[in-house]
Amino acid sequence: MPEQDATEYSIRFARYSDLKRVTDIMESMEEQIDDTSIFVADDEYFIKSHIEREGFIVVAGHKKKIAAFLIVRFPRDSEDNLGRDIGLNEDDQWKVNHMESVIVVDEHRGNALMQKLIEYSEPIAKFMDYPIAMATVSPDNPYSLNNFLKMGYKEVLRKKKYDDVERIILRKDL
Ligand SMILES: CC(C)(COP(=O)(O)OP(=O)(O)OC[C@H]1O[C@@H](n2cnc3c(N)ncnc32)[C@H](O)[C@@H]1OP(=O)(O)O)[C@@H](O)C(=O)NCCC(=O)NCCS
Repeated sequence: MPEQDATEYSIRFARYSDLKRVTDIMESMEEQIDDTSIFVADDEYFIKSHIEREGFIVVAGHKKKIAAFLIVRFPRDSEDNLGRDIGLNEDDQWKVNHMESVIVVDEHRGNALMQKLIEYSEPIAKFMDYPIAMATVSPDNPYSLNNFLKMGYKEVLRKKKYDDVERIILRKDL
């Protein structure tokens, strides 16, 4: 994979005009990885509601295209709040953010974009009063898992989630 010049990437909030591109990337990824044990894709409604109110999306722009994106979600009192899985009390569940979905487009992999997106997002989530960062990864996805571990996320639980798929649940206090 050719190495890209890292300075060519601009890490920034997603705009409405990015929505279609983010959705397209998500959908193409779904076709490539139809093994849901590795990746569970989000649909367009979900992505749109993120730009609007339930969290935020950060993208790595590259020459007017999107090279990577990260969806950060505030699950609050949702059933799927990962804080529930690890037994957080209700107050703490409201402080949880989910580092929900991250995708780096094939030709841009190997430029630590996942880490850059997370680094950009963590202080924002903390500032917005969601200082407990949580994520799920598949044990079969070492690229994602290693990036989270390198950034100080700790495994707190392993369990079957999303239709019986094995997941590692990670946590980092921001
Ligand atoms: C997980 C993911 C975001 C990491 O991308 P990234 O930030 O570019 O990864 P890194 O920069 O840490 O890559 C480190 C090395 O692993 C390689 N690599 C990263 N992802 C890879 C993949 N899916 N398959 C093969 N090699 C991969 C890189 O090329 C790089 O190799 P190098 O050191 O020889 O240059 C990316 O693999 C991806 O988009 N995967 C599909 C979606 C997904 O699984 N998301 C996570 C769950 S929501």
